[in-house]
Amino acid sequence: MGGVDKLAVIGAGKWGKYLVRNFSELLGQSNVTVCDSNQERLEEVKRDYQEIDTAGRCDEIIEDRSIPAVVISTPGTTHFELTKRALGAGKHVLVERPLAKKVSNAVKLLKLAREKDSTLMVDHLLEYHSAVEVLDEKIESGELGDIYYVHGQRLDLEDLETEEDILWSLGSQEVSLMLYLINKEPKEVTADGGRYLEREKGREDAVFLTVEFEDGVKAHSHLSWLDPHKTRRMTVVGSKKMATFDDMESRNKLWIFDKGAEESGEGGFNVRYGDVYIPNISLEEPMKKMCRHFLHSFENGTEPRSDGKDGLNVLKVLDAARRSLKNGGKPTIVMNVEAG
Ligand SMILES: NC(=O)c1ccc[n+]([C@@H]2O[C@H](COP(=O)([O-])OP(=O)(O)OC[C@H]3O[C@@H](n4cnc5c(N)ncnc54)[C@H](O)[C@@H]3O)[C@@H](O)[C@H]2O)c1
Repeated sequence: MGGVDKLAVIGAGKWGKYLVRNFSELLGQSNVTVCDSNQERLEEVKRDYQEIDTAGRCDEIIEDRSIPAVVISTPGTTHFELTKRALGAGKHVLVERPLAKKVSNAVKLLKLAREKDSTLMVDHLLEYHSAVEVLDEKIESGELGDIYYVHGQRLDLEDLETEEDILWSLGSQEVSLMLYLINKEPKEVTADGGRYLEREKGREDAVFLTVEFEDGVKAHSHLSWLDPHKTRRMTVVGSKKMATFDDMESRNKLWIFDKGAEESGEGGFNVRYGDVYIPNISLEEPMKKMCRHFLHSFENGTEPRSDGKDGLNVLKVLDAARRSLKNGGKPTIVMNVEAG
């Protein structure tokens, strides 16, 4: 597979503008085209990047054979159609999360990417965070022992006006992180939540999510748009050590606790209070790493870390969570669907 020298970003909104910045730094402005149906957004791009080409209709990008790769950063409801069209035109695609809204549509995209021999990658940004990479290495090497459970909090009071559903927004980040770290099959999901604000679409403002994995591993998450503390934290409790990833910390984002409880040999347990240490973590912007990984994946013909299958797995958990929420928090089996 050849290298990519041209790329288009479709959707230059609040999130897309960071993608535009990163890809223009990696490829050079003159190799990036930005498409947005909102003329004001395009004017902003033109003002900030004099050498970038712009387009007002995504057809111009899809039909342009000189553009081999597209990045889709439009609202979630459009991801499936745009990704389908771009893959259908033989392009490599990096799409924002969630990959699609329906599990069946995500499966279709995976099949299409395989038929076209195109790279399909989903922006599960946290998988490219240096602190998460170090934490994952520690889990994989067995330093933390067997993982008992994971507990996450993704809380805010900022995004109340968002069009997005909390499960697709905060939930997809959280679920991609737990799946990446636990690396086991999710079996059952329980989700309960509350609708405290009167909104047109009757969406939850807070969700309490529990995911049961094979081997009895559990993950629990509190997602909320109605919390006084902006929090982005996940704690991993293992049989040997415990760890906390706190993305709100400016420098010390990963803490490893040499703490635990061990059998005393007399039928009881001793609590062990060992050292706490903070690994040195690269501060490289996760999005820059993610964008570079996208380019690297098709230059080398390798599957991206957050590939279409990863996107499908996140969606399967979110789908079970949505069904559980509808049924008043009833435990719900995760669909057993493969990419075919
Ligand atoms: N990975 C993450 O951590 C993360 C974080 C925030 C947002 N996101 C995702 O990024 C995506 C964009 O979010 P946002 O906050 O930037 O939204 P936004 O509404 O600010 O921007 C979306 C842009 O897409 C444009 N657009 C919509 N349909 C279009 C079409 N058919 N053709 C061309 N342009 C079109 C709109 O004009 C708008 O400028 C969403 O899917 C969101 O879930 C991901």
